[in-house]
Parts: sequence; C-alpha cells; structure tokens
Amino acid sequence: METKKPVTAIIVGGGHRSIAYADYSFDHPDDLKIIGIADPNKVRCKMAAERYGFSEEFCFESAEELAKQPRLCDVIINGTMDHQHYETAVPLLEKGYDMLLEKPFAVSLEEMNDLIAVVKKNGNKVMVCHVLRYSTFYKSIKERLIAGDLGDIINIQMSEHVSYHHLSTSYVRGKWANSDICKTSMLLAKSCHDVDIMMWLMNDTKPKTVSSHGSIYQFKPENAPEGAGTRCLLDCPHVDTCRYSAKAMYLGHPDRWECYVWAGLEDIDDPSLALKEKSLREDNPYGRCIYKCDNNVVDHQSVLINFENGATGTHNMIGGTAKSIRKIHIIGTKGELYGNFEDNNFVVEKIVTEAKDGFVREFYDTNTMGSEGHGGGDPALTEDFINFVRTGEQSISCTSIHNSVPGHLAVFLADKSMAEGGKPYNCDFSQY
Ligand SMILES: NC(=O)c1ccc[n+]([C@@H]2O[C@H](COP(=O)([O-])OP(=O)(O)OC[C@H]3O[C@@H](n4cnc5c(N)ncnc54)[C@H](O)[C@@H]3O)[C@@H](O)[C@H]2O)c1
Repeated sequence: METKKPVTAIIVGGGHRSIAYADYSFDHPDDLKIIGIADPNKVRCKMAAERYGFSEEFCFESAEELAKQPRLCDVIINGTMDHQHYETAVPLLEKGYDMLLEKPFAVSLEEMNDLIAVVKKNGNKVMVCHVLRYSTFYKSIKERLIAGDLGDIINIQMSEHVSYHHLSTSYVRGKWANSDICKTSMLLAKSCHDVDIMMWLMNDTKPKTVSSHGSIYQFKPENAPEGAGTRCLLDCPHVDTCRYSAKAMYLGHPDRWECYVWAGLEDIDDPSLALKEKSLREDNPYGRCIYKCDNNVVDHQSVLINFENGATGTHNMIGGTAKSIRKIHIIGTKGELYGNFEDNNFVVEKIVTEAKDGFVREFYDTNTMGSEGHGGGDPALTEDFINFVRTGEQSISCTSIHNSVPGHLAVFLADKSMAEGGKPYNCDFSQY
C-alpha cells in the first residue's frame, strides 16, 4: 500500500491552541509531522520538542527568527496571541509558507487589509481556525440550508452565553480583559466565531450595514461588595461567600481553565495546591478581586446586521451566565430551524399546508463525535487544512482567510458602531 508523505509543520507560538491542532499528528502520522517550534518561551519549546520528537536545533526564538532561515517545512501552525498574528504571519507568508492561523486573524481593519494583500501577492493557502464551522452541529445545519429545507433565509438569531467562570477567567481577570493590552475586543476574541457562522450560513449574501450596543454591566469597582479587598485570598472578607472568589473558583476547581490560570506555574512539574494558593494570594492575575481588575471589554453586546438582500441577523453575547450556551434560530421562506450547540441537536420545522398542524417537524441529533475539542471541530479543521494544502480543494466548512473576511469585517464595524452609541456602519467589500 502506498504511504503518503506527511505535511511537515512548525508550530509558531506553542500555547494550548497550537498543541490542540499539532496533536492530530499522533493519530495521523501519514498526514502531519511536527518538525519544530518557534516561541520565545523556552519551557514551551522544550515541551514541544519532547512531545513531537524533534531536536533543539529546530527550536527557534521567534517567528521572525524562523523567517530568517531557509524554508524548513510545508506549513506553519500559528497559535500566537491575537495581536501577534499579523506580525508573526507576515514574514512567514512572505517566505512562502502556507499557514493554519488562529482567529482572529487580525485585530484591526488595517491589519486585515494588509494581511489579505500579502496572501494575494504570495498565493499562500491560509486557513483561519474557525473551528465551529467544523463541528457536527453547525456543519449539519449548513447541510440543511444547502438542501433547501428552509428556502431563503429571512432572519438569523444567534446568541452566545458566556458562563460566569469563563467570562471572569478570560475577559475580566485574564488575557482578553483589557483591549489596550490584548488589542482585541470581547466580540472579536469570543464571538468572531458566531458572526463568522452567520456569514457562512448566509452564503454569498453579504452584510450591508452593522450596528451594535454593549457595555460593562457587572464587573466594575462600584459593584464590589462593601469592604472588598484587592486579592481574594489576601485581604478580602468575602473570600468564602463571593460567587467569584478565586478560592472557590480556582482552588475548588483546579482543572477548570487550568491552561490560563496556572500558566505562571508551567515550568513546575505538577504544582501542589499549596503552591497554587500562594500564587493566587501573591501575583497570579487570577487571584485579583473580580471587581477591581483592569478590564475594559464589555460583558454583554448585541449586534444587528442588515444583509444586502434585506434579510436580517442578530447576535447577542451575554457574559456571566450559569452555563455556556450557543443558540441559533433561523427563519426561512419554507420553514425554520432552531437548536443549541451544547445540546448537540436541532429541529427543523417545514411549512406543509396539508399537514394537520400546518408544518412537519424533523429532529437532528448531532451528538455523534464524542467530546473532542469544540464539538469535534479541532481535529476536523486540522484534517481539512491538510487536505486544503495538499489539493487546494475547499470543503463546505473551509475557512480560508478570504472566506473569513465578511465575519471579521462585520465584527470590526460592530465594535466601531458600539463605540459610537450604535451608529450603523456600511460594509464595503470593493477591495476584497
Ligand atoms: N479557535 C478557537 O476556538 C480558540 C480558542 C481559544 C483561543 N484561541 C486563540 O488562540 C490563540 C492562542 O491562544 P493561547 O491561549 O494558546 O495563547 P498562548 O498565550 O498560550 O500562546 C501563545 C504563544 O505565542 C508565543 N509567542 C509570543 N510572541 C511570539 C513570536 N514573536 N513568535 C513566536 N511565538 C511567540 C508565546 O510565548 C506563547 O507561548 C489566540 O489568538 C486565541 O484568541 C482560539
């Protein structure tokens, strides 16, 4: 039997996202081989070298350093932080590498336009990690639309509830809390997936105008309980009663969001609970009072999109809920579809005049892919990226950088609109 030559890859930015894609190589050695890493973090370089079995010679200090070498592999898996995507991608794209690039692929309209120009000039194949497009849930919905079950779409309603522990960990205490530092808004960091899904489901129908409102509702100093300290485990009388106490949230659940909360202890092999407690008391950012952080991104935001054919779409992101939920309801000329991602099923109701109730209902169970990352999206996206690189073929989920423009553009304009009290902005696609 003929064995295929694996696509060879170097990881740029060895955080948990890159590893999620790179681990595909373990079960599919004929398809993907990880041969190196570029990351200023030496601990991560060492871990990756041991994990994938390459020598120190293939550990580079940064994307920029890697770009100075002759071309060493077929593709780059770029899992740097949001604001580093542009600066790390450009020199490697100029070098001719194809790339799997984390979302958001750019943090501003200007960066997006520049990056698209670089990709057009060099002809690279670049796929953006909109993993939800690959989940069985959203892929099956897309298939129903392609089959024509709903007719023409009149309206799409989407919402994302970000659980209280996810919101507080990532967007109040964590890496995406302050847009002056991370350069990303809440909508861009969290809901660019959802807005992308809306654009994908609308097919070639482009968004025409976008408007948005949102604010920080909960997590600001004036909402702190009386006498609240600065760090839960250091000086707060509410440490045992506050819903957001770092004690209950992180020591009570040490595995929850561990890749973020204990990142500062990564160089220690299996850190003890006592060490984790000490870090929360002293310098771990996740030990800060939830009401006294440097967060400036919204905790809820609503987006209204008017499409060029008159259809409408809304997306509501609400943070601080008991559990995470992504809901969708699509209404078309022939029927409607609704469901939620976490339940892994959806319902299609078709208009049938002859039926007793005036419609027929079909139930779709998409709970078939086990519990792999993002409803099966992580491995499915990696597989599709490899196929895209090898053949140039685009699957129905394919999220090439060009396919990702409408969603990113809508998010940039929604944030601009929100900053200006909801003023509608027109989407201009003339340069894409
Ligand atoms: N697709 C998804 O569903 C999803 C989910 C979560 C996060 N993300 C995105 O994944 C990305 C990575 O997130 P993470 O939490 O894994 O990040 P991380 O901070 O853990 O990892 C980023 C790594 O990049 C390295 N780095 C910094 N500068 C570099 C340079 N010049 N060259 C090479 N490496 C450099 C850092 O040292 C770090 O190890 C983010 O953009 C995030 O928004 C995507």
